[in-house]
Order: sequence, then structure tokens, then C-alpha cells
Amino acid sequence: MMAEPVNIQRTLDSFSEPWSPRIVAQFNDYDVRVAKFHGAYLWHSHQDTDELFIVAAGRLVIHLREDGVERCVTLHRGDTYVVPRGIEHKPVSDEESHIIMVEPTGTLTVGDTHEEIPDHVDATTGHHIG
Ligand code: NI
Repeated sequence: MMAEPVNIQRTLDSFSEPWSPRIVAQFNDYDVRVAKFHGAYLWHSHQDTDELFIVAAGRLVIHLREDGVERCVTLHRGDTYVVPRGIEHKPVSDEESHIIMVEPTGTLTVGDTHEEIPDHVDATTGHHIG
């Protein structure tokens, strides 16, 4: 069956919880998810998939750790960044930011390995809308 268009802004307007992605589209075996990021996420990694971030609004700092070496990248509205599989990462937004993510359907937000999950983080494979 043919789907109806899904509006990203309207989806963002429909919820307020940070770190709780909504699935706005699925194609092949991938999800396009939108989420509000605010505050600090947790260190985690995805063993089997890269993860694409697109900043629709706000500012996102992604802390990265590879072989014990830490660095971070700062993304502004319109920036894209791919975290390669296996790389530990921790997104941080000091203001509410709106993030679009593309990753395989079923990918758990907190990854395969992660530190303790704080209460404000929703460990999910994404929420369907409507
Ligand atoms: Ni991740």
C-alpha cells in the first residue's frame, strides 16, 4: 500500500521527550528517525552498523572514542556526520536540538554495548508514529 507523506516538523511538534526517536520513514531495511536531543546521552557503540546524523536544528557535539583516544565533533544545523560501526560515541546537546538519524531498522538507540542507562534515556528501536 502506498504511504502518505510524513512531515518532520509536525512529528517533532507531537512529542517533547528528549532521546526518544520517532520513525518517520522506512526504506529498504532502514529507518529514518527524528529525535530531540537535550543534555548528555551515554557512551555506546553499534557493532554492526554505521550511524548517520543530520542536524535539523540546534547544535550537537558527538564525543568519540577509538582505541582509548577521545575527540569530539561539533555539528550545526545542516551538518551531517557518520559514526562508523564499532566506534564508541556519546552525543551531547547543551540546547534542545532536532536530529535526523538513518540506520538499519531494529537498531537499538543505546547500541550493543553501553554504559549504565540513565533514567532520562529511552532505550528503544524507535517509536512508530500515528
Ligand atoms: Ni549511536
